[in-house]
Amino acid sequence: MPIFAFGMDPVMIMDTETQVSQRKLYIESYGCAMNFSDSEIIASIMGENGFATTNDEYDADVIFLNTCAIRDNAEQRIRERLKHLRNNKKKNGDLIIGVLGCMAERLKDKLLEEEKLVDVVAGPDSYRDLPKLVAEVDDGGRSINVLLSREETYGDLNPVRLNSNGVSAFISIMRGCDNMCSFCVVPFTRGRERSRDPKSILREAKELENAGYKEIVLLGQNVNSYLWFGGGPKKEYKTLTEEEQANSVDFADLLEMCAAEFPQMRIRYSTSHPRDINEKVVHTMARHKNICNNIHLPAQSGNTRILELMNRNYSREWYMDKITMIRSIIPDCNISSDIISGFCSETEEEHKDTLSLMEWAQFDFSYMYMYSERPATPAAKKLTDDIDEATKSRRLREIVLLQNRLSKEKNDLFVGKVVEVLVENESKRSTEEWKGRCDENIVCVFPKEHYKKGDLVKMLVESASITTLKGKPVGYATLQA
Ligand code: SAH
Ligand code: SF4
Ligand code: F3S
Repeated sequence: MPIFAFGMDPVMIMDTETQVSQRKLYIESYGCAMNFSDSEIIASIMGENGFATTNDEYDADVIFLNTCAIRDNAEQRIRERLKHLRNNKKKNGDLIIGVLGCMAERLKDKLLEEEKLVDVVAGPDSYRDLPKLVAEVDDGGRSINVLLSREETYGDLNPVRLNSNGVSAFISIMRGCDNMCSFCVVPFTRGRERSRDPKSILREAKELENAGYKEIVLLGQNVNSYLWFGGGPKKEYKTLTEEEQANSVDFADLLEMCAAEFPQMRIRYSTSHPRDINEKVVHTMARHKNICNNIHLPAQSGNTRILELMNRNYSREWYMDKITMIRSIIPDCNISSDIISGFCSETEEEHKDTLSLMEWAQFDFSYMYMYSERPATPAAKKLTDDIDEATKSRRLREIVLLQNRLSKEKNDLFVGKVVEVLVENESKRSTEEWKGRCDENIVCVFPKEHYKKGDLVKMLVESASITTLKGKPVGYATLQA
């Protein structure tokens, strides 16, 4: 009997049938925004191969943990999580568990040896292979692919937006990192730096705009070294042929293209490297109201000797010059940082240099960490992790206390002023309030009134805490200057 015999839409029946046969995938993401963005690529690849994502881990046929390896505690969290997943496997004997991302890439087959529960191990450049890796497990094996690529950018894929607020979305513009900061595991877990075709970035932004998104966040480990010249591993501009140079697109060009093409969308980006940020980028930001006034420019330390040991390729003075340059072009630019306490051989005086740099730079916000030695990194090979835990932790406390004071003082300056807030979600504290972020990337909360998610709203700031501005809405804002 033909399937449309009862006058039903055959497409509907097909849909129901595919849904029945679809297996369920649950993805949990750890680490940085790039990893969260990768999970959306993974969902897309798996979706095309018959897997629907679910938010219920007990409903899943496949569980992927997309992991981070940046500090030891990030990996310990995954080990703990794997212990808990034993229960899931007890309940469902066919459940497939995959460890993906940076920890998978760092540990490779050691992970299969150490964690008997794990069926699939896949590194950041092998996600196209995931359906095959899962099929190998279906056939009774365990599978691994940790090959790093020099070209892969997943540029042609349409990421499936996971846990999205429908307002703001990440777009990866490059992968890998060539910097070799001595403390950092990322070059080992994500391989060589490569930039993504700007056409595919603009296509993705267009799709987001069509789907009603109001903000895009361009992502890379070092966005200021973005350079498109036709694809492949990173090259310096000066090493390109004349023709390649003429057709190349650098980060400032990409920002300009996004800002001009999507005047109704807000544009953010992260992360900038102090060595590579330049005036061209900051001038581009200044020219376009829809590029947000926030630069995440991790200092790591305020002491030149430590910065040299970290192989950051800049000095304290170079960093200060960059801040001066930014503020001379955009006086009210919000600047945030990452700081590491207790790096190898750091003296008390050198730690104080970090505090004084923070005070001088007036950081609006910082992510702050104790140094965690990562196996096989240049620091692990050549330097001694000789600052004891108590000292690292006390120094971190001093850094956090200072940042809290700076954040509060800087946020207090907004009281009585009007900021422009893109509404992202209901506030966690009250169903009567909206939460969003202002241009300067500070969390803002105000009474809902008649405003909707996705609206750009003017908010008169009435009070400020270390992390949040509160106020009342006073009308709609516009992205036109
Ligand atoms: N690409 C970005 C940073 C990515 S990692 C940049 O260069 O700024 C995010 C942050 O984690 C780093 O900025 C650094 O502050 C911190 N980090 C990286 N490795 C670390 C380690 N081994 N111990 C402690 N913190 C670390
Ligand atoms: Fe790590 Fe340095 Fe690359 Fe950032 S720039 S990802 S800290 S190696
Ligand atoms: Fe972690 Fe990998 Fe990001 S190590 S911070 S998830 S690039």
